[in-house]
Amino acid sequence: MPFYTRLGKLPPKRHIRFENPGASYRNEGIYYEHVVTTEGFARAYSILYHLRPPTCNTRVERLADLVLKSIEDQPLRQHHFRSGELPRSGDPISGRVPFMFNSDLIAWRCLPSLPQQTLFRNGAADEVIYIHQGSGELRSAYGRLRYRRGDYMVIPRTTTYELVSDDIQVEDHLILECTGPVRIPPNYLNADGQLKLGAPYYERDFHPPTELVTIDREEPTDVVVKDGPRLTRVTFPHHPFDVVGWDGFTYPYTFNAWDFEPLTGTVHLPPPVQQTFDCRGFVICTFAPRYLDHHPQAIKVPYAHSNVEADEVLFYSDGQFSSRRGVGLGSMTLHPGGIPHGPHPGTILRSMSEVRTEELAVMFDTMNKLHLTPQAMQWDDPEYPLSWK
Ligand SMILES: [Fe+2]
Repeated sequence: MPFYTRLGKLPPKRHIRFENPGASYRNEGIYYEHVVTTEGFARAYSILYHLRPPTCNTRVERLADLVLKSIEDQPLRQHHFRSGELPRSGDPISGRVPFMFNSDLIAWRCLPSLPQQTLFRNGAADEVIYIHQGSGELRSAYGRLRYRRGDYMVIPRTTTYELVSDDIQVEDHLILECTGPVRIPPNYLNADGQLKLGAPYYERDFHPPTELVTIDREEPTDVVVKDGPRLTRVTFPHHPFDVVGWDGFTYPYTFNAWDFEPLTGTVHLPPPVQQTFDCRGFVICTFAPRYLDHHPQAIKVPYAHSNVEADEVLFYSDGQFSSRRGVGLGSMTLHPGGIPHGPHPGTILRSMSEVRTEELAVMFDTMNKLHLTPQAMQWDDPEYPLSWK
């Protein structure tokens, strides 16, 4: 996240004594500085000030290992997963169902039925939670961040958080757990670090936490920490959202997919113009509502293509997808490298008279091959590979 943000009260300089005259903790009379860095100490960081040291915990306990299984008995083929039909289960963390993964990411779907039971922290991966349905608030030491339908909610690793939904029974998420950092594509930034004129979004489209709520509570509080497959329960003697101020360049934020400003040409433009986030080993793109190509003979759905060095996943979030038949909202398709894919029969000619599309979809293209889980195969549409007949 390249934008400097601050909330709450801060001392005039970093790394100096920050007086807290009312402090009861250890009678030391200070707030406790906590620097959250990325890439060692080399890249974006934030500085938070706590009522109590964030290092103090009273218990550490191994909970479980979420080792993902991959299926081995399928041919190379296209897949359509009716993931919108998943039954509601668990909370926004425990209810996550893994669909596909490689060394760079895990893609989960989650339709929770319960409010989040325990504070959660991903200690080893950035998370992008795409809000297909739902609204509410992400609570963390950085403050409260509202989220709504169509939001990408980007949560940097090590952020302890709680999702508080307005109505848990409508929440429906696509979660990308990203081993590497999630960044704005560097070609969208000018040499001063500002989003260029011509980039498909602007600083105003990114929303950091807006309200800092300092919880001053000394009672045992559990946090479930995930690092890779391992889950650990860490117990703190106090609530960890005890921050009175913070500033810096790393914090949870939202960007709404409907705020993406799509480019359209005389003829079809390729997916790099839809790129939204740059991640290690993959990109995240947004297909937002837009006017279609305007050459008089333009074919307005994508040409058949062999994306031979990428596996391509689309998540269908809103509208009617003009190049596909049979996919529903909440569906995911996987078009693996090595076999071409393209518009379904009938959609090429039909597209030529269309002027605009209201489709909204999230795409992630991975450089490394994706492995499918047995859970994903429960929602696989076996007819899909033959649907171009
Ligand atoms: Fe494609």
